[in-house]
Amino acid sequence: VSNSRHFNVAIAGATGAVGAEFLKVLADRKFPIANLKLLASARSAGKTLMFDGKPYTVEELTEHSFQDVDIALFSAGGSQSKKYADAAVRAGAVVVDNSSAFRMDPRHPLVVPEVNPEDIGTHQGIIANPNCSTIIMLMAVYPLTKLGRIKRIVVSTYQAASGAGAAGMDELVEQTREYLAEKSLTKKVFPHQYAFNLFSHNSPVTENGYNEEEMKMMKETRKILHDDQIGVTATCVRVPVLRAHSEAINIEFEGARPSLEAIRDALAAFPGVQVRDDRAANHFPMPIEVSDNYDCFVGRIRNDLSNERAVDLFVAGDQVLKGAALNAVQIAEVLIEKFMPAKK
Ligand code: A2P
Repeated sequence: VSNSRHFNVAIAGATGAVGAEFLKVLADRKFPIANLKLLASARSAGKTLMFDGKPYTVEELTEHSFQDVDIALFSAGGSQSKKYADAAVRAGAVVVDNSSAFRMDPRHPLVVPEVNPEDIGTHQGIIANPNCSTIIMLMAVYPLTKLGRIKRIVVSTYQAASGAGAAGMDELVEQTREYLAEKSLTKKVFPHQYAFNLFSHNSPVTENGYNEEEMKMMKETRKILHDDQIGVTATCVRVPVLRAHSEAINIEFEGARPSLEAIRDALAAFPGVQVRDDRAANHFPMPIEVSDNYDCFVGRIRNDLSNERAVDLFVAGDQVLKGAALNAVQIAEVLIEKFMPAKK
């Protein structure tokens, strides 16, 4: 940050999987924090969490949690966001919300900072963080929009357990142990056996046959790109991976497709993306290699032999970082740099 201003920051959902990552990312990126407030449910009130080497006591999230807070990072689930974000805004905070509660509300910007940072300036107190699969897809797709108009995207996801929070990751580990011990499997978070299996994404299936995760990828992409015409069709699947999502993406251009060289260059030059495309070694993006990384990895860059206007690629991104905590902190960084007036 270019000046010496510091901000009072609150994290709603500080004890969760994304909350833990918020703490690491804020410390790692030296976010200019004056006071930090850690909020969670009454169950966690009184617990101690470490931030930047110092202990902080978790408080219960209530309507009164936000006095003197400048920036409130919410990751406590959609119902908590709906219940408390307004109170935070009324108290004068700007909310960066990780849930789906406000994403499609036209009043609230939906932002991937590498893609549409200028939308942050239109906020009315709430800025929505997109769905993790949408963010990771757009990190690979958006650089290509500079090379020609994209008409249609066909995407298939390979989504990790982390999307269902700490409890989701625990369930995968626990079921794997049970499976290897030939015990019956405990199912609490996911509806199906997760260890040594995969299944269609566990979000509710809508009337049109798409599940809600797939519909989010389709709708959020249009909003973030400000393109009501771009076609997106998605198939979202949970795979037994702990914390990074992968996606196979087919991208059809309106006109002639750019060369693979131009696509590789555009991806390599894009902040937040690394090209991992080693055909000789058959080494491409993998969830275990992208875990704990801020950047998304893109590879399998090739021409679609069935459509002269289309290319295929494969992206992997850390769901908890770029898919959630990192993206939200980046939004807060742009907010304080560009759109937060200096206090008197
Ligand atoms: P708690 O740990 O006290 O339950 P995850 O995404 O890993 O499941 O984490 C969810 C986060 O949201 C946790 O920090 C959790 O706090 C918090 N949370 C869940 N329900 C509530 C609630 N009713 N009020 C406040 N925080 C909540």
